[in-house]
Amino acid sequence: MREKLVAGNWKMHGSLAQNKALLEAVSAGMAGVKGMKCAVCVPAPYLSQAQSLLQGSAIAWGAQNLSQHEKGAFTGEISAAMLLDFGCKYVLVGHSERRAMYGDDDVTVAMKFEAAQKAGLTPILCVGETLEERESGITEAVVERQLDAVTGRLGVAALSKAIVAYEPVWAIGTGKTASPEQAQAVHAFIRGKIAVQSKEIADGLVIQYGGSVKGANAAELFSMPDIDGGLIGGAALDAQEFLAICRAAQR
Ligand code: 13P
Repeated sequence: MREKLVAGNWKMHGSLAQNKALLEAVSAGMAGVKGMKCAVCVPAPYLSQAQSLLQGSAIAWGAQNLSQHEKGAFTGEISAAMLLDFGCKYVLVGHSERRAMYGDDDVTVAMKFEAAQKAGLTPILCVGETLEERESGITEAVVERQLDAVTGRLGVAALSKAIVAYEPVWAIGTGKTASPEQAQAVHAFIRGKIAVQSKEIADGLVIQYGGSVKGANAAELFSMPDIDGGLIGGAALDAQEFLAICRAAQR
């Protein structure tokens, strides 16, 4: 049985004071939550703060991006080894905002995935279609292309130590959640596609849903057979909302 993972993606939000209050409230609230995994992906400058506040707690932490390169003349970039130095477990790769605004194409995303895994981080590979792509009926083709970029480069075995997050772009930050049935259909497609190559890896793969998840809709989404938790943006900035989502992911 797959344990659900709820991960907060704070995006470019927070301050030392806000993070402290948020992480302390989430840590305290997580005391009674069992049978699920919880993580926060904070802005890179706050990794040290997350490490000192969360070490020894049930909450893991991670980053929102990394360089595909190991080291060198890449001004402004952050390597996988640097993230490990701050105790990161997870790192997002291929978030739609990075794909749309920062030139993270399929090849770059696959290289970042590889760099993360090589260093011992668990990549959370984000995939998902835009509204235009959905309306043109190419959702599955888009998601397939995004997955193939990684498995084509690294083989399906790479997914045995990774998370996939299905995040329809039209549902991110819009308040417009995919219906549980819409999300389930894509999650089942992803798992089915991987099962063709390895049933064992497909069965073990945690596939999160992301896009306007809140305390009020999490339980219904998480009740679907192929939805293994969530990648949470806006609602992860509110301790009580985030905790409600974590509680909805309990076994
Ligand atoms: P929202 O939960 O704000 O829609 O963001 C989803 C997301 O992009 C998480 O990575």
